[in-house]
Amino acid sequence: MIGAAYLAAEGLEEVLAEELRRAGVGVDSWHGRLALSPDLPVASAWALDVWTAPREVEIASVKSAADALRGMQRNWAAYGVAHHRRMVLIAERLPPVKARALVFPEPAPAAHLGAWTLLAPDRMLASPTKTSPFVNGECRFEEDHIGPPSRAYLKLWEACTRIGDHPRPGQTCIDLGASPGGWTWAVAKLGAAVTAIDRAPLQARVAAMPGVAFRQGSAFTVLPEPVDWLFSDVIAYPAPLLEMVRRWIAPGGADRVVCTIKFQGETDHEATATFAAIPGGRLMHLFHNKHELTFAWRRGD
Ligand SMILES: C[S@@+](CC[C@H](N)C(=O)[O-])C[C@H]1O[C@@H](n2cnc3c(N)ncnc32)[C@H](O)[C@@H]1O
Repeated sequence: MIGAAYLAAEGLEEVLAEELRRAGVGVDSWHGRLALSPDLPVASAWALDVWTAPREVEIASVKSAADALRGMQRNWAAYGVAHHRRMVLIAERLPPVKARALVFPEPAPAAHLGAWTLLAPDRMLASPTKTSPFVNGECRFEEDHIGPPSRAYLKLWEACTRIGDHPRPGQTCIDLGASPGGWTWAVAKLGAAVTAIDRAPLQARVAAMPGVAFRQGSAFTVLPEPVDWLFSDVIAYPAPLLEMVRRWIAPGGADRVVCTIKFQGETDHEATATFAAIPGGRLMHLFHNKHELTFAWRRGD
């Protein structure tokens, strides 16, 4: 009996396994990057997607598999690990699901989406519900190959898409660890005012954008002030980052926080749990995150 399935990001299977172990969630086996658990689903920061109602279905033929899926609901995304030819034949009998790249800041897809895979040629796992609105948790965008100085802006775009909110004209933002300036570029492009802070210089083209101010210095000595958004992609250990975030979410600080928690070598699961316990906060592994998590918080949530 499979009670839930957790999809790990590439190369982060062990990190997800450890998170689940600490949460008391069993994993009986893996199907590719999908951890198959006998237990009920729990919230997972490291999973790209959680299949929350998986059912094992014996299938006699390609047609019976497609019929079973269509009998449950319309939209299905396939996660293929093996039996690829058979999976293609089944998918061809389903209504097409277009995993179109988003044009930021358009919202995440709202259509209900389930996920399925073939565990064996005659055994399908299908979950009508899952936590991510994206096919296999892959939030893809029409990228800008000219404007931003690095690809890091995709993390900010994805975080904003996941929380359903983004900086707007007239709002004020601080961007800590801003250089070379991908996040600052993304925020300025949305029409908000942004103060970028880094020990290293900001790319000149970004520094010259309307609404951008740059202060060279340490992110950790910046005193909190009332701003609409605090962004941080600063390279730091989780503990000092947590202290910094606590200062900014105290009264008189930021209304919203989007912050990357980076791990060098070992994953600090204790620090992760402390971030996860902050009221109003949300911890997620973005499709564009590497060995890092994104913490999002909103005052009053
Ligand atoms: C991953 S990069 C940020 C990339 C940026 N978000 C972008 O989109 O281009 C991390 C940055 O943190 C900065 N940094 C590291 N320690 C810092 C500190 N104590 N104070 C300020 N900046 C720091 C580095 O100089 C580096 O530019």
